[in-house]
Order: sequence, then C-alpha cells, then structure tokens
Amino acid sequence: MCGIIAAASTRNVGKLLVQGLHRMEYRGYDSAGIALHQLDGVAHLRTLGKVQLLEDRMIEEKPRSKLGIAHTRWATHGEPSETNAHPHKSNDEVFIVHNGIIENHLELKAELEKEGYSFASQTDSEIIAHLLDFNLKQGMTMIEAMFASKKKLDGAYAIAAMHRDDESKLVIARQKSPLLIGLGTDEVFAASDPLAISQLTNDFIFLEDGDVAEISADTYKIFDAVDLEASREVSRIDISSQATSKGEYRHFMEKEIYEQPDALLNTIDGRISGEDVLDNIFGLGSTELFKKVERIQIVACGTSLHAGRVAANWLSAIAELPCQIDYASEYRYRNPHVDDNSILITISQSGETADTLAALNYAKEKNYLATVGICNVPTSTLARESDFVLFTNAGPEIGVASTKAFTTQLAALMLLTLSLAKARNLNPKLRQRVVTALRALPEIITQTLELKDSIIEMAPAIANKDNALFLGRGIFYPVAKEGALKLKEISYIHAEAYPAGELKHGPLALIDENMPVIALAPESEIAEKLVSNLEEVKARGGTLYVFSDPSVSIDVKSGSLVPMPKCDFLLTPIIYTIPLQILSYEVALLRGTDIDQPRNLAKSVTVE
Ligand code: AGP
Repeated sequence: MCGIIAAASTRNVGKLLVQGLHRMEYRGYDSAGIALHQLDGVAHLRTLGKVQLLEDRMIEEKPRSKLGIAHTRWATHGEPSETNAHPHKSNDEVFIVHNGIIENHLELKAELEKEGYSFASQTDSEIIAHLLDFNLKQGMTMIEAMFASKKKLDGAYAIAAMHRDDESKLVIARQKSPLLIGLGTDEVFAASDPLAISQLTNDFIFLEDGDVAEISADTYKIFDAVDLEASREVSRIDISSQATSKGEYRHFMEKEIYEQPDALLNTIDGRISGEDVLDNIFGLGSTELFKKVERIQIVACGTSLHAGRVAANWLSAIAELPCQIDYASEYRYRNPHVDDNSILITISQSGETADTLAALNYAKEKNYLATVGICNVPTSTLARESDFVLFTNAGPEIGVASTKAFTTQLAALMLLTLSLAKARNLNPKLRQRVVTALRALPEIITQTLELKDSIIEMAPAIANKDNALFLGRGIFYPVAKEGALKLKEISYIHAEAYPAGELKHGPLALIDENMPVIALAPESEIAEKLVSNLEEVKARGGTLYVFSDPSVSIDVKSGSLVPMPKCDFLLTPIIYTIPLQILSYEVALLRGTDIDQPRNLAKSVTVE
C-alpha cells in the first residue's frame, strides 16, 4: 500500500527520502515520486515501477534540497502510471502526497473545476493539492489552508504538503490513515510507517485522527481535531535495522519461514509459567474481563482470518465458548446482533488493515464488553484502539505473504483460549497439557523445517500446473485454506481449499491428472475418513501430495508422502502450516515470480 516519507532538515534530504521509500517497498506499490524544494522552484520527479528507477533519476538530475516529500503509490483510483504517481501539485506551487481514499473526491472535483482548476491525473488525491491552493488563494496560511481543507475531505487520509514559496516548513494531516512524526537532530521527519525513518531516529510521535502538524528542521507544532495546539507523547522505539535485512536468505519470505522457531518462542515467552498461562497477559484487568465472557466474535482478513478460524475450534473445545467469525470487510454490513457479555477479537499482523480497523470502530458502538486485539506491530492503530491487546512479538514481517505472522497468531490465540479457560475455571488438565505442548513447539517447528528437501522435490510437479486443490478436515480446513492462499498469492497458481468430505459434493469433477491435490492427514479420529476421501481422488487420476502423521496409512501411488513430526493434536495446525509455506515458496521460486512483492498485492492493506 502507499507509503509517505517527508523531511525538513539542515542537510540534503533527497537521498534520505529515497532510502525511506526503499524501506517501505515491502508494503507493495506500483510507482514512486518525490518533490524537493529548491531555490529555483520544486524538483518534481515521478517514475512508474520500482523505487530504484526514481533513485536512478535522482542520480542523473542531482536535485539538492533540505525540504521534501516522497511517496510510493499503490493504485486505487486510476491506473498505475507516472501521471497518477504522487506527489500531485496545484499551479506548480502546492505539492502533496496522500495515503488513503477521499470518498467525496468527485463532488470536490466538480466544485474545484467550477473555480477553474483542471486535473492532470485520475486520482482522488489530486483534489487535495487544488483544495489547499484554493484556500491559500483566499488569504490563508498553509496550516490554515490544511485546517480548512480537512473540513471538506471525507474518507481516510495521511497527507504531507509543501509550498514552493516556503523553503522551511511542511504541513501534514492524519485521518484514519497512519502518520507519525520522527524527531532527529536538526531535522524532523514525517512518515506513514515507522520503518521508513527507522534508520534516522528512535523518537516517534504517533498522530491522532484529526491532527494537523507543521514541521520544520528545528521544531514542530501539532493541532488537534478542533485545530487547537496539542501535545502528543514522544515514544522511544528501537526498530532494529537487522530485522529488516534479508541476511543470507534470498527473500524476506524465506527468512521469515525459517525464523519461526524463534518467533514462536517470543510469542509464548513470559506468558506461561509452570503448568498454566499467566494472568492478565492481555493487559491489566483482562483476567477479570475474561471471567464475564459468554460469547466471542472474531473479525480479521486473509491469513489473520484463517488463524481466527483455527482458534474458533480451540475456543469451543477448551474455553467452551461459542465463537462467530467474519471477514472484517463483511462484518459491519450484516447488521450483526451482539449478545450480552460478548467480546470482539480482532487479529491483524500489521494492525493497520483498514477493513479490520473499520470493523473495530463499528464494534465500539455495539454492546461488546470489550475489544481484544492480537497484533504484531506495537505502534499500530489497532494496538492503540483496542481495549486489550496481546502482541505476537514475531518481529517485522516484510514479505507480503504472511508466514511467521500466522503461526505466531495461532500461538497467541491459543494463549487467549487458555486465558479464557483459566478465568472460567475450566479444563485445568487440558490447559496443563497444552502449556507443555506449547513449550515443545519451537523444537518441533525446527524439525519440521528440516523437511525442506522432500518438499523441494515435490515443487516441480506443482510449478508446471495451473491449478491446485488443498484438502483438510476439521481444524485442518483453515490450514488448507491458508496453504491455498499462500500458493495463489506468490506463485499465481489458482488454488482452492475444501474440507475433504465436501469433494464428492462437486469439486471431484475437477480431478484429473492436471490437478495436484495437497492434503493434510494428521492422526485424528477422522483420519480414516480422510483416507477414503483421498482414495476417491486417486481413483479419478488425481496426484496426491500428502503431509501426514506416520500412523496414518496412505498409498499415494505416483504422488508424494511426507511424514510429519509428532505434536500434540491441538497444536498440529501450527506444524502442518509450515510445509505448505515452504512448498509455496519453492513453487514460486521455480516460476520466477516476485515473491516478496507479488503483483497487485500490498503488505498492509490500508484501504477498505
Ligand atoms: C497474507 O499472506 C496476505 N498477504 C493477507 O491476506 C493478509 O493476511 C491480510 O491482508 C491481513 O493483513 P493483517 O494481518 O496485517 O491485518
């Protein structure tokens, strides 16, 4: 998704801004641009494609400047093109970069056209530049123009703006789209993602909705939603640069897959003790809250939703609580009925997914006891806006395809399940069993990663197909869905997941020699039923690739069978996810796709 970085400094900022754009590349984007204040006007460079192309232009043109704004764009309104790339400008005077969506842009565009403004791009963002210019022409200063403009803008925005005639100040604004200030020595930055300025400062100020700020090299002023000067806390956060480099790995996704033993350890570290989960791990008062809970609603998107679907089974089996689960993008639109004593759980790696945040905001108007977040990014909006939160502590996840985020979300959701069961005085023996199994998990993940070579052998037969089917039953159905999502997003192979028992109700018609079928066969009470489902596939010429417990007897004929390490059944979804991640990665490698930044996708989906 789009990324903003801006700087006011006493040194040249062009290079810093482009480096910041590079650090946001993981978010996904299609074009990049920069506007740099210079003595003879503003250097305005935009390129379609990678940030490297913008950097090449900068090297050629050598603009020098102490004030500038830069952007990576992920197209929403208007195709990816140089003209639609940010910064946008008005009259060669006002330059802006914008993240988010201006919902009333057509109405505002019509008004501005009547005032004589013409539009160069197809974007919703360009109206912001013209609106600021219009307000300036009414005699306002830049900050006053931003105050007046925000009253007209509906939707979500993070904006950074500069004026040709002001060589020292930038104006920024935030509404439902992340934006922060970074404080350096003799320089002040603004960015939509702390990673963009992580090499420049550890001191961040997270703006609130409705905030507008003016920044210059030596100072900043923040104004709140009603335009009054406001003070905001400075947070000192060390975002390690090591965590954001690939090291010896070919891709961030590969690195993140192999980081899972440590990531899992970090998720459970300090949260279990002896034979049980610790109290209040979701924040002070959470144990008291959990005693009252009678019903759960989960909302999330994509991989995080799959984690929620696994957890719904745990919540029912261990905490004995009914649990409903919804796509965050659908939840608000089905007029949900909220029973008394319900809690809303949101799950999000980034904590910035617009659909999940919108569902969280919507839920605040409903009669939930509280909102509880599971999130990987402590500085995120979701973390700030939830009543209670547990961080997965997986470390930065840069690859667009979620890997360690998913398995650590599962571990965190198991901690939630245990916390609810404990608060409700339920199943002490089972809790004890799960806590012991959680401790053993990092080691079992390490053993699972050692299956890499057998998985690499499978990859060519799948890489040359156009479709794939993933099968799992019960708690493994969401794992199969996660496997299919991984394969489709990074290899572009069409992949679907089914509960294996559903095959005969339709999808069996798809089975032939061109349909690889990837199945999860742990030891379980329905293992035999799954084996029968797989026999049906074999009988119709489908090739089976099965990850199974050694006790489950399956003849895969010409396909492959990978025996999986032993693990407590309740935690097996975490273990069986890992070969599916490796398989997708290896297939995508063979197909030569852009694994860390797959086409059309973004890491953090900040538009609804
Ligand atoms: C996962 O591989 C995806 N890239 C995507 O489905 C992701 O999980 C989804 O966009 C939700 O993101 P979040 O966890 O940051 O909210």
